[in-house]
Amino acid sequence: MTATIMYGKQLADEYRTKFKIEVENLKRKGIDPCLAVIIVGDNPASKTYVRMKQKACEQIGIKSIVKAFDKKISEATLLSYIESLNQDRNVHGILVQLPLPDHINEKSILEKINPAKDVDGFHPINIGKLLIGQETLYPCTPLGILKLLEHYKVEIEGKHVVVVGRSHIVGKPVGQLLLNQNATVTYCHSKTKDLFKYTKQADILIVAVGKAKLITKEAVKKDAVVIDVGNTFLESGEVVGDVDFNHVKDIVSFITPVPKGVGPMTITMLLHNTIRATESQLTI
Ligand code: GUN
Repeated sequence: MTATIMYGKQLADEYRTKFKIEVENLKRKGIDPCLAVIIVGDNPASKTYVRMKQKACEQIGIKSIVKAFDKKISEATLLSYIESLNQDRNVHGILVQLPLPDHINEKSILEKINPAKDVDGFHPINIGKLLIGQETLYPCTPLGILKLLEHYKVEIEGKHVVVVGRSHIVGKPVGQLLLNQNATVTYCHSKTKDLFKYTKQADILIVAVGKAKLITKEAVKKDAVVIDVGNTFLESGEVVGDVDFNHVKDIVSFITPVPKGVGPMTITMLLHNTIRATESQLTI
């Protein structure tokens, strides 16, 4: 049996069409949704991601402001710029592209963002709300994964979800979101012994570690659902995920491709969060 390929790209396009109408409706009421993106330094991957975010906003009519700082900027300057965005009633979403240079405390920066404008969902208040199952702005990749599973009608309740990777951006929050949907969740990470012992038990396997083709066909259960968040550029120029797609697809029931799988959903959920953040800040 060959798996159903879960094309995030296709679903992302459907969402963006819907979001474009929502933004038009807001504009008709005199509200102009605006996302401010901060980038520090010249990390090429970060620059690419920021450009993609800017383009996605433009595509659906969200205004975006990109502020690029030199990598030597002080933490104090960055904090005071974030404060000015917090105070600006015309800015509805704030995103600080990660990673930041070593001399800047990432935790202090993320805590400075007004939780109501935290479209990445990284503020401790938003993470805390996620933990206790309260509605809030959720991190974009985990939310995109949830929407993908829902779209393909993958049952979550009672299923064993195994998450490989425990980052704050993907691993931890995606496990939490699915726990809130009544899944049984196991987290695996770099110190897990005998990784495949766990991955082979997964009804839904989510891999987010950035290790090309880590998950082979020996690592998955027949008919599992496999979500690949990996995105590694090989020297050949090819982009591959954390899953050995060509071999694993013959065993499982659903699998995301790389590229065009989870990736497009991440930026789409940033648009979703920006619209939700805008709506939540309306005082009329
Ligand atoms: N760097 C890598 N992924 C992300 C993300 O989702 N948000 C931000 N702000 N930075 C990132």
